[in-house]
Amino acid sequence: MRSFSPSMQGLAVLSVLASISLTAAKPLSFRSLKNDTAHAIAKIDWAPCNFNTSDYPLPDHIDCGSLVVPLDYTDSTSNETLTLSLLRSKAVSPSTGNKKSMLFNFGGPGYEARLTLAAIAPTLHNMTGGEYDLVAFDPRGTADTITFKCFANPTDRTVATTTLTIHDLDPGASSPNAFAENYANAVAFSQRCDAYNLDPGLRKKAEVLTTGMVARDLMAVVDSLHAHEGEDGLLHYWGISYGSLLGETVAALFPDRMERLVLDGVVNAENYYHRFGIDVDQLLTSDPAFRGVLDDCLKVGASRCALADLNSTASELEDTLLEMVERYQVNPVAAAGKVINGRFVKELLIITIKYPVAVVPRATVLIRSLLEGENLEAVVAYYDAFYASLDMGDNDALAGIACSDKVVRATGPKDQQLIEDTEYMRNTSQLFGGLLAGIATQCAEWPFEGKGKYVEHWFDEQGQPKVIKTRKPVLFIGNRYDPVTPVKSAVAMSKIFEGSRVLERDAFGHGSIAQPSDCTTGVLRGYFSSEMVLPEDQKVCEVDFGVFDLGEFP
Ligand SMILES: *[C@@H]1O[C@H](CO)[C@@H](O)[C@H](O)[C@H]1NC(C)=O
Ligand SMILES: *[C@@H]1O[C@H](CO)[C@@H](O)[C@H](O)[C@H]1NC(C)=O
Ligand SMILES: *[C@@H]1O[C@H](CO)[C@@H](O)[C@H](O)[C@H]1NC(C)=O
Ligand SMILES: *[C@@H]1O[C@H](CO)[C@@H](O)[C@H](O)[C@H]1NC(C)=O
Ligand SMILES: *[C@@H]1O[C@H](CO)[C@@H](O)[C@H](O)[C@H]1NC(C)=O
Ligand SMILES: *[C@@H]1O[C@H](CO)[C@@H](O)[C@H](O)[C@H]1NC(C)=O
Repeated sequence: MRSFSPSMQGLAVLSVLASISLTAAKPLSFRSLKNDTAHAIAKIDWAPCNFNTSDYPLPDHIDCGSLVVPLDYTDSTSNETLTLSLLRSKAVSPSTGNKKSMLFNFGGPGYEARLTLAAIAPTLHNMTGGEYDLVAFDPRGTADTITFKCFANPTDRTVATTTLTIHDLDPGASSPNAFAENYANAVAFSQRCDAYNLDPGLRKKAEVLTTGMVARDLMAVVDSLHAHEGEDGLLHYWGISYGSLLGETVAALFPDRMERLVLDGVVNAENYYHRFGIDVDQLLTSDPAFRGVLDDCLKVGASRCALADLNSTASELEDTLLEMVERYQVNPVAAAGKVINGRFVKELLIITIKYPVAVVPRATVLIRSLLEGENLEAVVAYYDAFYASLDMGDNDALAGIACSDKVVRATGPKDQQLIEDTEYMRNTSQLFGGLLAGIATQCAEWPFEGKGKYVEHWFDEQGQPKVIKTRKPVLFIGNRYDPVTPVKSAVAMSKIFEGSRVLERDAFGHGSIAQPSDCTTGVLRGYFSSEMVLPEDQKVCEVDFGVFDLGEFP
């Protein structure tokens, strides 16, 4: 499991986010990639990376590359370019045939991808069979690639976002009208972004961050590997979390170039583009996930779970923890320079369901401290370190991308669809709905019109799928207890993609790398192999280790 160190980066974060209004964007007719003399397919310059990861030096088999691509694929008159930053981890057992590469996106939107690939490449080589070069680039808007910002520096952002926070919608949790407060906050944040990007040069960049553009960047990498490195010119891709949405989009745009496509921790694209929030169904299995973790806690006992001796059933334990949330909600406490309130406690509880399961045993120790009201400094230190390791850096790319992608927009705080979507999300999770449903208002009045936005519907008005036939069938993967991307969304998207399969894992955490299993690895290696072995549809994979079997304790 050491492959999950050195950092928590790129644990397929699928961050909070999203929403927008009814200005239906015009469908754009895209040309494919530019391929004329003025825009010859560029070559990737590979060289040693000029950085090390935070905790360890980059191994030899990793190098970095840059590739010049069009800044705006929708503007045939422009010759402006942007330079993508790539990272590659070379095949551990290259095949004798043509070199082949697999591309990755690990989630977000708004997260870099190169450091994450560097950190987990050994695991991914194992799961992909070792014959592929593994390649990722930082999507536009993120890291150093036309970084999207709404603030001049981190201090300004911190100052502004201290007030512009998403409020918990549960009664008594924050403001008396948290919904209206969220709406006003989202609009204020949008105003900041608008004001900071008034300069025409910045504005032009802010408008080309859509997933539709990133999908074209993926194909530009494929084209370059084809033209200059002798590869097959087809996409081999594994997208996790938001990376699944990127994969769905690229498959819709370039269906006949999809050679291998694994979409893992799946986002419903109809929801993402046409409703508020990231995916209104996203919390459907949050409560079962939390209850499942508590069940397992009681099963393994106090030697691996610090909450096991409190109660004798999972439901009693759940009550105990919910009472604790309420207690801190009513009586927040200060410790180590931080306010421990209901929100803080819920965010600590979320750690047990969303991240690689190896973090769970240790997290229960901190939750126990909260319950007892002891060692609160240690709890704050743990919380800060955990969330700091997920940091996206000095940018606002999350909103920059997700809000640009939205086709729907809100007409104001009384927008019916917005209210309904928020309520629906909140209803789907008794435990975390209040905390997370507020994200539905995030893009309500986004000031930029994303170019190259994918605006087509995925289902018609009767809910019938608008079927897409890809060159090779897509493999969808979902965890039964994924707290932010339920299997339901994988099954829904599978109806769109003809011949696709759904692999359902009897697993916890977000995405298949949260709790790996030999069964999953077997399916993936078969799918990625040159014979392409497809699992039967709705195949279920068990996992090799329980939630409490791995990781540090206490
Ligand atoms: C680009 O154009 C060249 C010359 O017309 C052609 O040989 C090449 O196959 C094209 N590449 C792609 C990816 O279409
Ligand atoms: C990364 O770390 C290695 C080993 O410590 C060192 O040789 C190399 O110069 C470092 N590279 C950079 C860019 O800092
Ligand atoms: C890009 O286009 C502009 C005007 O259309 C032209 O002046 C410039 O030379 C072009 N640059 C390149 C690198 O082709
Ligand atoms: C791949 O991972 C499995 C565990 O899932 C392990 O048993 C095996 O040794 C690994 N193989 C390689 C080549 O790293
Ligand atoms: C569960 O544990 C908590 C904390 O020790 C305790 O207050 C509560 O009474 C217990 N519930 C039951 C039903 O035993
Ligand atoms: C949410 O739940 C409440 C209470 O059960 C119900 O009245 C309401 O219709 C639900 N709203 C949505 C959008 O599901």
